[in-house]
Amino acid sequence: MHRSTLVASALALAAGAGLAVLLTPSRRIAHDRLLPQPAHLDATARALLRQRMARHGADMNELVAAVVLADLDEAQRRARSIAEDANLARPLSGDATELNSALPQAFFRFQDELRARARDLAAAAARRDAQATAAAFGQVASACVGCHLAYLGR
Ligand code: HEC
Repeated sequence: MHRSTLVASALALAAGAGLAVLLTPSRRIAHDRLLPQPAHLDATARALLRQRMARHGADMNELVAAVVLADLDEAQRRARSIAEDANLARPLSGDATELNSALPQAFFRFQDELRARARDLAAAAARRDAQATAAAFGQVASACVGCHLAYLGR
C-alpha cells in the first residue's frame, strides 16, 4: 500500500473509533440524568416537563448521530420532532393553565428559541447542506442549555 494511502486509512480508522466512542450508548444522555428538582413547580407541572424532556433527550441522541454521520433525512425528522415538541403552551396532556402559570417567562422565550433553531437545522438538512446542519446543531444545543440554566436560576 502506498504510504499516503496508509496514513489516510489510519486517519479514517482513528476518526471511526472516535465516532464510535461518541455514539456508544454510555455516552448518550442517560435516563437517570436529571436536572435538580425545583421547589417552585408543583408535581403536575414537573411530571409534564419530565415527559417532554425524556422525548427531547431521545431525539437529541438520535440527532447527534444523524448530524455527524450526515444522515440528513434522519436529522431533518429529529429536528422537526424537537420543534413540534417545543409547544408547552399547548401540552398534549394535562392541565395547560396550571403548567403555564408555574413557569417563568424565560422558559417560553427559550422554548421559542429551541423551536426556531430546530427549524433552522431541519431547513439546512433539507438543503442537503451537512456543514450548515452541523452548525445549526450547535445552536439547538445552545437553546437546550439556555433553558436549563434559566430553570436552575443560573
Ligand atoms: C424551554 C425550556 C427547556 C428547553 C428549551 C429544553 N429543556 Fe430540557 N429540561 C427543561 C426542564 C424544566 C427540565 C427539568 C424537568 C424536571 O423537573 O424533571 C429539563 C430536563 C431535561 C433533561 C433531564 C431529564 C429530567 O427530567 O430532568 C434532559 C435529558 C433534557 N432536559 C434534555 C433537553 C434537550 C436535549 C433539549 C434541547 C433539544 C432541552 N432539554 C431543551 C427545560 C427545557
